[in-house]
Amino acid sequence: HDHLIGAKQLSRADIESVLDRAAEFDADPTAFADAHPDALLALCFFEPSTRTKMSFETAIKRLGGDTVDMGTVESSSVKKGESLADTMRVVEGYADGIVLRHPSEGAARLAAEFVDVPVVNAGDGAGQHPSQTLLDLYTIRENAGLDDLTVGVMGDLKYGRTVHSLAGALTNFDARMHFISPESLRLPRNVRFDLHESGAVVKEHTDLDAVLEELDVLYVTRIQRERFPDESEYRAVAGEYRIDAETLADARDDLTVMHPLPRVDEIAPDIDDTDHARYFEQAHSGVPVRMALLDSML
Ligand code: CP
Repeated sequence: HDHLIGAKQLSRADIESVLDRAAEFDADPTAFADAHPDALLALCFFEPSTRTKMSFETAIKRLGGDTVDMGTVESSSVKKGESLADTMRVVEGYADGIVLRHPSEGAARLAAEFVDVPVVNAGDGAGQHPSQTLLDLYTIRENAGLDDLTVGVMGDLKYGRTVHSLAGALTNFDARMHFISPESLRLPRNVRFDLHESGAVVKEHTDLDAVLEELDVLYVTRIQRERFPDESEYRAVAGEYRIDAETLADARDDLTVMHPLPRVDEIAPDIDDTDHARYFEQAHSGVPVRMALLDSML
């Protein structure tokens, strides 16, 4: 079985195949209840989630299958000290695939070494979140197209796993990438290295105004408070890189504003009702995109 661990493993052809299939599911998600009858998907979320967990659950149910849910760390035997490896070896006997979210970077790769059913990395610490990337690309394709694209990615580029995965996947599409963050939250060295190796056109900025007018897409992220070793470091950057309708006055009319959500205060509510706002549509596309992903993996 193939696992989905990081965005780097996805070729342009892989991505386009999932997005094309997702468009079929999107047209009528209720028409595929016979696709995977009896399929069981294990949800193992060692960290909080609303979108990823619920959209995977919706996706497998739309395909005719069902979920088995580990519950929270507090309500499971993880609380008694069971290892990730043992948990995975047990759960693979219950389900046809495992969706794993975990606070440790590398957890999904480790899990995949212990099981034969496919594992989807639904977020491993500050590492990767590749199924989010597929729905992000779906939203970009729908709104701006994936050719001749200029993308700005702003906020917590250091700890933001959705950023690391999206940046890796965009190297398949000749996109121009602008990364906007405080100095202390720049992309990690390994992500910058991979972008450099791919030959991608990448620039880093501390100021959105430097590039705003050029952007087709502005992808905003939350400062990942839970990843900061020191609360004072978080407070030093919290509240920076916040956008509101006035910030976007100089943006192109067709600028697409995205956010993986949840947001705290990075996008003011006065943007929600503008034509720029695509973040709720983005979250909704998690269902057809994850249907397509599960359809190909199970
Ligand atoms: N975008 C995202 O991963 O959201 P959740 O943490 O709610 O799953």
